[in-house]
This record gives sequence, C-alpha cells and structure tokens, in this order.
Amino acid sequence: MRVLNVVGARPNFMKVAPLTEALSTRAGVEQRLVHTGQHYDPTMSGTFFEELGLPRADVDLGVGSGTHAEQTAEVMKRFDPVLVDYEPDVVVVVGDVNSTLACALVAAKRHVPVAHVEAGLRSRDRRMPEEVNRVLTDQVADFLFTTSRDAGVNLAEEGIPAERVYFVGNTMIDSLAAHLDRARALDTPAALGLAAGDYALVTLHRPSNVDDRDQLEEIFAALAAIAERSPVIFPMHPRTRGNAERFGVLAALGGVRVIEPVGYLAMVGLTAAARVVLTDSGGLQEETTYLGVPCVTLRSSTERPVTITHGTNRLVPVRTRENILKAYAEPRRESPGPPELWDGQAAERIAAVLAGGVDRPARG
Ligand code: UD1
Repeated sequence: MRVLNVVGARPNFMKVAPLTEALSTRAGVEQRLVHTGQHYDPTMSGTFFEELGLPRADVDLGVGSGTHAEQTAEVMKRFDPVLVDYEPDVVVVVGDVNSTLACALVAAKRHVPVAHVEAGLRSRDRRMPEEVNRVLTDQVADFLFTTSRDAGVNLAEEGIPAERVYFVGNTMIDSLAAHLDRARALDTPAALGLAAGDYALVTLHRPSNVDDRDQLEEIFAALAAIAERSPVIFPMHPRTRGNAERFGVLAALGGVRVIEPVGYLAMVGLTAAARVVLTDSGGLQEETTYLGVPCVTLRSSTERPVTITHGTNRLVPVRTRENILKAYAEPRRESPGPPELWDGQAAERIAAVLAGGVDRPARG
C-alpha cells in the first residue's frame, strides 16, 4: 500500500511526524512525504524536520508565500503531477492550512482516497481562512480522523456519513508526549534568562489580530502592561513582524522581549514552564491543555472547545487592553483532566485504520 503524506506549514510537522513513524512499522506500507513549501524559513520549517525526526521530504514543491488564491492554486498545480507519478492508495493531509485543502482537492479529483487528520474542528467563523479549509477538506475526505467527540458531532451535522469518521485522539499530542522530556532537558527558559513559572509566553499570527493596525497596537499595549510586572517572551511570527514594522507599532511593546520564531523543542520547553500563555494559535490551546498551563486565547471563538471544557483555556472575544489584562489576571489553572484519547497513541490508531482499511470502498 502506498501512502502519500503532505506537510506545508509549521503546525503540520508535529501532526505528521508520529504518523510516518507509526506507518513505518506496518508491513506492506510504503510512504512518501511531500512538502508544499508554504513555510520555507529554517525557523518555520527546517528545524522541525530535524527535531521531530521527520524524514527529508521526497518532494519539495517550493510554493512559498502569496495570496490565498495564488498559494492554493500553486500547490494544486505542483502537487498534481507528483500524485499522478506516485499513484498512492491514499493521500494524508493534516490540519487546516492552505496546503491541506489544495492537496485534498487534487487527490479527490484524481479519485485517490483522502485521509484528513484533525477533521471536524469548527470555529463557525467563515472569516477565518482555516475554517473554509476545514469544511471543504472534510467534504472531500474519505477517512476523517478526529481529535475530540465534538468534532464528530460537527461532521454528522454536515451530513458526513459516520462510517467515514474515526475518533482517534490527537497526533500533535503524540509528538508532545514523545518529546516533552527532551524539550525540558534543553532548559530553554534558563538559556533565555527566564525563571520557570515566572514568565508569560506570547504568540500571535492570526489575520484578525495582526492584520489590523489598531487591534495589533491594542494587544501590544496590553502585553507591555504585563511586562511591567513580570517577564514576557514573544517569539514573533514573520507575518506579525512584517505587519508591526509596516504599521510602526513595535515600540508599543515596551519591555516585552521579542525573539525570532523558535524550534519545536524550545517552544515546548518554553510552554511547559510558562506561568501563562497568551496566544491565538490553535495548537498552543491544545498543548497548554495537555500540560496544564493556563492559556489566554486572543480570539472570539475556538474550533477546539475541548480545551475549554477539559482544559485550561479561556477566550478573550473582544481584545481590548482591559479585557486582556483581566483574563491574564484570572488564569485557569485547574482542569478536569486531559481530553479523551489524548494519550500519545493517536498515530497508532490511524495507522491501524489506514493499513487495514484502504482496500475496502470508502464511500457507502
Ligand atoms: C499559516 C496558516 C495558518 C497557520 C500558520 C502557522 C493558512 C491559511 N494559514 O498562516 O493556519 O496557523 O500558517 O504559522 O494556511 N512567511 C515567512 N517565512 C515563512 C512563511 C511565511 O516569512 O517560512 C511570511 C510571509 O511574509 C508570508 C506570511 O509570513 O506572506 C504569512 O505566511 P502564510 O503561509 O501565508 O500564512 P501564515 O500567517 O503563516
């Protein structure tokens, strides 16, 4: 059986790594890895391969940045011949980035079964590009692997037949569980002069926060106020840096320590030892839930409600300075425990389904 795995952007690598490993132990499974090149800087891509033990991509499509239309179209154009050449039995896409949808569409139109890892998450906010990618990828997928029960409910509401849906857990948490000890041993906080449990960690990259000058400046002002009381470390995403420079708002960050994006192990180490994480990332909402670290999510909705019901997450729907400071002052430390099946074994469950399942008709 031939499996074609796709990665494109930073949050994809840790979701695919455990799956390629689990598939590599299955008899009769041959696999290839395609990198679309949506993310290309070493800090956004290369270091993740090394740290996660991901094999070198067999094919790099080298797509790079662009508008949504350009990026999606370019991935489709360049992925199609790779698919035709390899003739896989299944294409595996993960998450909700533009590369996910682009490759799923190409495979569906070539009648190649699509497996979507992290299916069914819904923010119900169609202004998020990721929401459009999620809904459409799930519509063309044949195997829908979910991380939480609410995702299965969402898929049922959209008319996806239950026999296509597999509740397997979270492969990103597989990576976290597998690499946590190594990440802690690096002691990245100490290397940055931070005391464990004594700093706030910030990430921001959503267009709704960073593409609007006033919104970005307001968030920066809140972070500056926090930094007057305790250290704030901010590995800044290239989209955010670019906008902040263009808007001329970097100075509003005051005493916040801005650094370049960090690799996977450093980020896990920084997250695990943070007093609180302020973020608009989807992945960090889940990682903080698993680690029991309070998370303040600077968004009006989340496609990951399990991080609220079973985790340490809270939303700040209207991101004014006052609201952010209030949420920061009331962190959620207690949680009812990790979500169901977030046990480090999700990739094994997916591998079992794929290795045993792609020969039978996927559609009812
Ligand atoms: C993308 C995903 C988002 C994900 C995020 C994680 C989509 C629609 N968005 O958003 O879901 O949460 O990745 O980071 O797929 N850039 C670089 N170097 C890189 C990559 C990007 O400098 O290696 C800069 C470019 O200026 C680019 C901008 O960042 O235009 C945005 O990159 P892009 O891939 O379009 O979207 P992200 O904001 O990273």
